[in-house]
Amino acid sequence: GKVAVLMGGRSAEREISLMSGSGVVQALRSQGIDAHAFDPAERDLGELKTGGFARCFIALHGRFGEDGTVQGALELLGIPYTGSGVMASSMAIDKVMTKRLLLSESLPTPRYVLLRRGGYSPEQVDAIVDTLGLPLIVKPAREGSSLGLSKVLERAEMAKAVALAEKMDADILCEQFISGDEVTCPVLGTGEQARALPVIRIVAPEGNYDYQNKYFTDTTQYLVPCGLPAGEEAAIQQLVLQAFRTLNCRGWARADVMIDQATRKPYLLEINTSPGMTGHSLVPMSARAAGISYEALCVEVLKTAVL
Ligand code: DAL
Ligand code: MG
Repeated sequence: GKVAVLMGGRSAEREISLMSGSGVVQALRSQGIDAHAFDPAERDLGELKTGGFARCFIALHGRFGEDGTVQGALELLGIPYTGSGVMASSMAIDKVMTKRLLLSESLPTPRYVLLRRGGYSPEQVDAIVDTLGLPLIVKPAREGSSLGLSKVLERAEMAKAVALAEKMDADILCEQFISGDEVTCPVLGTGEQARALPVIRIVAPEGNYDYQNKYFTDTTQYLVPCGLPAGEEAAIQQLVLQAFRTLNCRGWARADVMIDQATRKPYLLEINTSPGMTGHSLVPMSARAAGISYEALCVEVLKTAVL
């Protein structure tokens, strides 16, 4: 039957989702699948039903797409969709909820302080610097692609960083900065079948893997094989699988991890339940290293579509 590739949407990552989605549509079509682009920002989701779509490939990123809302709507419509269900999606979109779940299973994640818009004092903001040390990271709890993220190097920069993050979300996550290797690791499959793909090590210009360097420059280096000792890579894959299972993720995801340069301990930052599929994106890159083409990856993810 017809497949709708949900792309675009209303989040700050709309442009990225349009890039992901057009790649997916093209790849599925090349495999003989009757795939169509469907932008929930332009069309009512009810049209999926009247349009006779049998399944959805969710290529939406961020809120109203990766966060359980669209998943819930599709549940109501009775249309199978790729990736995580309602609860895993809504937990994983929220970096603070993710941390709480990870910590409940004793999985390592950087220390943090949560601020709520309108519910904190300047003294509290100042105290965070003493609690977490410098540098530290300030970011909206529910945003992707580094949007609204600041690396705070000096105490005086805190107020500006918090103001930027709270423009994008009422929940502001202040996080201990782990200095060391930045890596990411995809998971493919569900339940017992879920497996981790090769780890990618990211070397960004001046250590700054921001929105621009994620998608629009060619100066970020992606190392796969990652060049870490085999034991370290296997430990990261194991950790990422544990995180995937802790959040009860389904189908596919990608977890971002920092490795402390002094202790070599890996820390989970977050889990992306609808990871990027652009020409610069990391799941396709890791899959390719595992011998899975972009087209085969799209077909495999589509096969995970369930209700
Ligand atoms: N949030 C972007 C799309 C990613 O994680 O790939
Ligand atoms: Mg993310």
